[in-house]
Amino acid sequence: MASAVIGLGTYLPLRRVTNEELADRFDTSDEWISTRTGIHTRRWADTGQATSDLAVTAGERALKSAGLTPDDIDAVVLATTTPDHPCPATAPAVASRLGLRTIAAYDISAVCSGFLYALAAGHGQIAAKNAQRVLVIGAETYSTILNPADRTTNVIFGDGAGAIVLAEHTRKDQEGSILGVDLGSDGSQQDLIRIPAGGSRQRATPGDATEEDHYFAMQGKAVFRQAVTRMGDSANSLLQRIGWDKDSVNHIVGHQANVRILKALADYLELPHERAVINIDRVGNTSAASIPLALADAAHAGRLKPGDRILMTAFGGGLTWASAAITWPSITPV
Ligand code: UT7
Repeated sequence: MASAVIGLGTYLPLRRVTNEELADRFDTSDEWISTRTGIHTRRWADTGQATSDLAVTAGERALKSAGLTPDDIDAVVLATTTPDHPCPATAPAVASRLGLRTIAAYDISAVCSGFLYALAAGHGQIAAKNAQRVLVIGAETYSTILNPADRTTNVIFGDGAGAIVLAEHTRKDQEGSILGVDLGSDGSQQDLIRIPAGGSRQRATPGDATEEDHYFAMQGKAVFRQAVTRMGDSANSLLQRIGWDKDSVNHIVGHQANVRILKALADYLELPHERAVINIDRVGNTSAASIPLALADAAHAGRLKPGDRILMTAFGGGLTWASAAITWPSITPV
């Protein structure tokens, strides 16, 4: 018994932040940002707009795309690095605001790999027969955790949300099927991407942490160095396990961290750059929202045909990495 994608919804905050706007505020330039990252614009949430606000709209749209009502959903799995509060999880609030029943709702914390970890969790809930239909959401408001003194992270990250509906199915060749997932981590490198304060290791209390400790920090170069091999090796091992020939992959939907990483990933997989889905130019790095936003972008552009083989892969803080293989379903993202 396995699951298939039957709906996809997304939401981007209205505020578009251009490279030029950032160049007015930081010692950077449109030229540096475009050539080093491939990003031209990103969206940032309005003041007061929290992660759950984005997640609820993406969730509503995913239900609409799937043609379901709130009563049809049995569980919500929400991947985020930017929960509304350190405690409790954000997923129950999202479930409640979506008008879902008093169903299982929990967060997944795997930073940029979060959406694929959440997908694996939703798939597992269905395989275990705990649920028939699961809403899987990736939602982020990184603009709320960026260090105003750090030009590098400010130019990279954007806000957004994407959600899919997974449903039980019985036929392995059904379009939208999740054919396999591969998950991994290496906690010995946890320091490369983190928010130092606010947890049990370094409390948020005044005097215990500097202001800087509360912001997101990333050692970009060290992360860059292993992003391609971690995603590529995970993807290759998944392809081998499910018996997909590399050449049969129609689209690589990689985590949108940097356009140079996405092209290098295609090279590592020995596939043409044209098979890499790229929307980072318009949304930046949206962490856990990145994969569903890229899927929706490619679908809206008419690139994804029912039955197409899609290889999704992500890498991020933890360190964590994840890959998943699906065939594209006959759905219209909302
Ligand atoms: O999403 C989770 C996973 N995240 C990633 O995979 C991110 C991976 N990392 C990256 O994408 C890249 O490492 C960055 C985009 C973060 C940085 O690009 P880079 O080509 O690795 O630049 P760098 O860190 O080697 O810095 C090159 C130069 C430095 O100046 P010097 O030392 O050569 O004089 C930096 O100080 O660029 C400078 N720099 C900037 N200059 C203008 C760093 N950030 C900026 C900036 N504007 N925003």
